[in-house]
Amino acid sequence: MKINILTIFPEMFKPLKESMLGRAEENGIIEFNIVDVRAFSQDKHKKTDDYPFGGGQGLVFMPQPAFDALESVGAESTRNIYMSPRGKVLDMALALELAEYLQGGAAKRGVARNSGSAEKNCDAAKTCDSNALTIFCGHYEGIDQRIIDAWDMEEVSIGDYILTGGELAAMVLIDAVARLVPGVLGDENSALDESIYSGLLEYPQYTQPRTYKCGSDNACDSAQEVAYTETVPDVLLSGNHKEIELWRFRESVRLTKERRPDIFKSFLKSHRELGKDEILVLREELGKKDFDTFSKHLSDKESKTLAKILEKERKKANISKK
Ligand code: ADE
Repeated sequence: MKINILTIFPEMFKPLKESMLGRAEENGIIEFNIVDVRAFSQDKHKKTDDYPFGGGQGLVFMPQPAFDALESVGAESTRNIYMSPRGKVLDMALALELAEYLQGGAAKRGVARNSGSAEKNCDAAKTCDSNALTIFCGHYEGIDQRIIDAWDMEEVSIGDYILTGGELAAMVLIDAVARLVPGVLGDENSALDESIYSGLLEYPQYTQPRTYKCGSDNACDSAQEVAYTETVPDVLLSGNHKEIELWRFRESVRLTKERRPDIFKSFLKSHRELGKDEILVLREELGKKDFDTFSKHLSDKESKTLAKILEKERKKANISKK
């Protein structure tokens, strides 16, 4: 699978040769084809931008170097993305979809387009090389609209703020997508294990030593020392994997509820299959309103589990009444 990156600052992509992504490329899992768009400029000064028609501030990326660079990478048969603050905001769902696309599956495209309507299949209008993605990094005030339209580009933003160019945004997108490709992280499960993937934020993690004495010189005050000593929960050292999983689940639920009510709301409506103990944790952690929302979106199996829990509690209550 291949990612073409079109930029006037190819040096900014040097970090792709490092770390996990560098290793993935060395291992032939993924190829990063970094293309200097300026080299395609037919202008004698190699310029790539010009003043906007209609006036206004800033400069606009010109069609000629962009079209020629896009043609050079065969962008007529790749999925094309333009990094832009006015695009669809990158999230885990889009990262997963792009990772799947790169692996040759679910070759849908157009889902991130501004129009929001088109959901074309690559093979509908043209054959799509479903292993290649082309990312165009803009600069200046934007790029000539004809580049976006003629090359059927999806606009993708990494957040509601403006960067000086699309390069850092492209790096973020590439990192988020590539790590979901099997083999890139080494341990295939580690990306899928993450709680954000399962719809919740990650629980707190701890490592050695259990008692941390504020650095090698033990120079912290006693209040800090006590705090550090007490922060590793016993359950994580219990060796009881079921209890540890439940503790982590509870922490994830608490954190998500508190910090990201938007994600939490989605989780209540759509989540992986939950077991009895997890449903019990949710009942303890959620208010009545949230638990009602959750109860309305259960799978058949989960509904049966909840019914059993309630039945058992009813019986128990009846016994204690007698
Ligand atoms: N280019 C400039 N700002 C951007 C953003 N927030 N996301 C994607 N590309 C951009």
